[in-house]
Amino acid sequence: MKSNPSLRSSRKLAHIKHALELTPGPGATGFADIHLIHRCLPELAWEEVDTSTSFLGLSLSAPIIINAMTGGAQDVAEINAALSRAAAATGIGLAVGSQTAALENPDLEATYRIVREENPRGVILANINAHTTPQDALRAVEMVAADLLQVHLNPAQELVMPEGERDFRGLLENIRAIVAAVPVPVIVKEVGCGIAGEDAIALAETGCKGIDIGGRGGTNFIAIEQARRQDTLGQGLVEWGIPTAVSLLEVAARLKGRDVVLIASGGINNSTAIAKSLALGARAVGIAGHFLRLLLKGGEDSLREGIMALIDELKMLLLLTGNKRPADLTNTPVVVTGLTAAWLRARGISVENLALR
Ligand SMILES: Cc1cc2nc3c(=O)[nH]c(=O)nc-3n(C[C@H](O)[C@H](O)[C@H](O)COP(=O)(O)O)c2cc1C
Repeated sequence: MKSNPSLRSSRKLAHIKHALELTPGPGATGFADIHLIHRCLPELAWEEVDTSTSFLGLSLSAPIIINAMTGGAQDVAEINAALSRAAAATGIGLAVGSQTAALENPDLEATYRIVREENPRGVILANINAHTTPQDALRAVEMVAADLLQVHLNPAQELVMPEGERDFRGLLENIRAIVAAVPVPVIVKEVGCGIAGEDAIALAETGCKGIDIGGRGGTNFIAIEQARRQDTLGQGLVEWGIPTAVSLLEVAARLKGRDVVLIASGGINNSTAIAKSLALGARAVGIAGHFLRLLLKGGEDSLREGIMALIDELKMLLLLTGNKRPADLTNTPVVVTGLTAAWLRARGISVENLALR
């Protein structure tokens, strides 16, 4: 992104406004093509089922992360504080929004640091773009005493953003240098267009420990940047991207046997989508727009209750599929139908073995 700190702050506020106004989509996530199988004889008691998860050496009460959204404008510090209190109260993870604003203007650091102040022992993820220097990546981690570092890739958003980045060369090399420079595991994420299997293989070679596939079907940054423009450019791209379920299946198949943890995100707003993501190979899910709406429309109590409901419903779904723990879902049968199945077959990935496992 072009450097202009005040423009960056007002862009943050515009992103929140448009994310609330625009509905997810119009492209689908693909979760409608994913089916878990109900077990009427689960042979489990409620007390035996446990949603807690270990994730890159960290512990969460459930495999859920409040995904990267904000920081970098004085008006959004309170949003970050509220997100962080909710994460602390429920035991889930929290990623801050892109820290570029504070790397350029240290006066804004407090709008990110507040997440650590509100949640001293919780799992916090720092967030930078893939052009950030390794030195600044380290500063971003230290700024929030982060446990993990997210590096985001968003070429479609940048292209539609009037002031956006136009040069996407050298990013793999830079990610490799970031991985070497920071003392915490690095997770590379998309922001809503998904990650293809071939890109996932290239990313795994950088030494990153996690990939958040950030698929299509939820918050749509092409539509958000289009809405910020005065003209029609970008309208033809609003359905661009790889659906979340498709991207997750592609990346899981291509990275099988590698030491890279997968996170599913993009349009996840209910417990069934969480359970489906875990069954398809994600170790955790990232949720942004759904949590932002709960907070800004219903307040902090509504956000906390919404998170607790997701965790309780995930526990119900574990029981109803005959599983005790989230990781056990990776051995549960999943039926893949429709466009998602057709896509995977065309890409040489078998879906039959998932249904018969
Ligand atoms: C208001 C808002 C701001 C965001 N800012 C960032 C950001 O700074 N860095 C980033 O990696 N992702 C950012 N995202 C993208 C989310 O982390 C997530 O990848 C995307 O919204 C898709 O997930 P969702 O459908 O659950 O919203 C932002 C999302 C929202 C809604």
